[in-house]
Amino acid sequence: MTTTTSITVRVPAKVNVQLAVGAARPDGFHDLANVFLAVGLYDEVTATPADTLRITAEGHDVDRIPLDRTNLAARAAELLAARHGIEPNVHLHIRKDIPVAGGMAGGSADAAGALLACDTLWSTGASRSELLDICAELGSDVPFSLVGGAALGRGRGELLTPLPVGGTFHWVFAVADGGLSTPAVYGEFDRLTAGTDVPEPEAAPALLAALESGDATALAAALANDLQPAALSLRPSLSATLEAGTAAGALAALVSGSGPTTAFLAKDAEAAGQVARELLASGTCRQVRVAGSPAAGATVL
Ligand code: C5P
Repeated sequence: MTTTTSITVRVPAKVNVQLAVGAARPDGFHDLANVFLAVGLYDEVTATPADTLRITAEGHDVDRIPLDRTNLAARAAELLAARHGIEPNVHLHIRKDIPVAGGMAGGSADAAGALLACDTLWSTGASRSELLDICAELGSDVPFSLVGGAALGRGRGELLTPLPVGGTFHWVFAVADGGLSTPAVYGEFDRLTAGTDVPEPEAAPALLAALESGDATALAAALANDLQPAALSLRPSLSATLEAGTAAGALAALVSGSGPTTAFLAKDAEAAGQVARELLASGTCRQVRVAGSPAAGATVL
């Protein structure tokens, strides 16, 4: 008798409460002080034994994600299998709820989710540090998708130090039409900063203190994203979304990561609901989502 076991892993989205970007490195990446906060919007990845590696997906905009081996989730399965001498014969099904190409690490979440799901399905016995190494090989944001919570990412964002968070923060996310390519936004950052002295990226002490104390007003005052001018340059319409959220009573507004999703910090859950309703009514975005933070990292359900 054979039994087919499926493993499902839930993985959160992220917002960067501070994204300090240094000058381009010789390898093309940028050194960062990247303060990640996991938020309660989730993708789910289900791994089921199969004859060959196969990916399917359901949810909003899944026609915009590749379903072949270029999908980071497929690469996660292949890397883990290769390290353990296993054939990556698995069906990965992705239930997408994180905006696609939105600057909320949805692709990274799927990679971390696929890795944990396959690791559990295949009982590889991989250590946490081996899984984190594979995550870093897959992409700069993937290690954070595995660990969740809040963390400072140094290097290109993959070298993580967990951060304490003293309360729940309430967010509204405005989803824009279409995505933005992360390399294109970094390229625009390089163009906009050419000829200027780009400082070494550092995490702001006031921001870390605001996270630790759980003080939303203090966090709002410290939010910062060095990629925001580049995202706005490539997508000028985002300015109107940021303004609409601020006019609706958000404590602060910023572009999430490389965008084009915009993030609004609210005083409490009630204020978040109000900001969400007014943002949607403003007609400056396609969809709004409300979510709390921090959220747990990749979790087997
Ligand atoms: O690491 P990941 O594959 O997610 O990076 C995607 C692209 O984003 C890179 O190819 C690079 O253009 C840009 N990037 C960067 N510096 C970082 C992270 C990403 O320039 N720290």
